[in-house]
Amino acid sequence: MTTVARTRDELRRARQALTGSTALVPTMGALHNGHRELIRRAKNLADHVVVSIFVNPLQFGPNEDLARYPRDFDADLRMCEAEGVALVFAPSEKTMYEREPAIRVCAGPIGERLEGASRPGHFDGVLTVVAKLFNLTRPDVAVFGQKDSQQLALVKHMARDLDLGVRIEKAPIVRDDDGLALSSRNKYLSADERQAALALPAALEAAAEVADNGGAPAEVVAAAFGILDSADGVETDYVALVDPDTFEDPSGGEALLAVAARVGNTRLIDNVVVNIQKG
Ligand code: PAJ
Repeated sequence: MTTVARTRDELRRARQALTGSTALVPTMGALHNGHRELIRRAKNLADHVVVSIFVNPLQFGPNEDLARYPRDFDADLRMCEAEGVALVFAPSEKTMYEREPAIRVCAGPIGERLEGASRPGHFDGVLTVVAKLFNLTRPDVAVFGQKDSQQLALVKHMARDLDLGVRIEKAPIVRDDDGLALSSRNKYLSADERQAALALPAALEAAAEVADNGGAPAEVVAAAFGILDSADGVETDYVALVDPDTFEDPSGGEALLAVAARVGNTRLIDNVVVNIQKG
């Protein structure tokens, strides 16, 4: 049986009833198999899984898709029940933010690169809500997806730098059969746009091959950029090869190739970890 808590009081009561360790999976709902993978991972890490479902206004820019972000609580709850989730915390906006927060977490320089450059303030909003969710649900461990690699890196830094006492675990990217990384935002894509969006995984695959063959960082980036930039209906935002922890230039060894592109009105991100030669 999955308990649903919507208020702080309901959460406090339900949380107290969970004895043993707990793992938190923070989400914005519209759950898909990527989220399911996180829940399964969480189940292996703790006695109880808590899933939070909250579309966080603080992390959306003024011209972004907050109002039309997909929401389907009943389907989300069915998935959580099927996966044996102990507690779903689904607060209203008023519950989460009783007033405009005077204090926010500052993501710092890592939060200003790549996604942060395209979406100013986004990561401050993400980290603020994640810190609140940690404090409200008091998990031992929290699971985040590699799909949002910069978010994952920042949450790890926050947990360490602010001594939050929560272990952060990552789960791999889950893709559809055609290679497109699962995302709640894929619902926005028309059939043609979805076809065009396959340029993202195709670009990553081509670039990973260049890296596997010993290609230099610039060649790896060029391989991905070439495919994205020549794809019809795809507007490249960035292609970047970075250190997965600092998001600075990679120093050799494991590096993260991250891409972002607009397909119609939908902004998509994807990434792959590659090995590059030490310079
Ligand atoms: P949301 O986009 O709902 O994603 C919730 C979690 O699912 C994130 O950790 C994300 O990386 C992971 N995820 C999404 N698609 C995935 C995929 N295809 N494979 C593996 N993991 C995937 O990320 C957020 O919500 C929010 O920013 C949040 C952390 C909840 C704060 O509001």
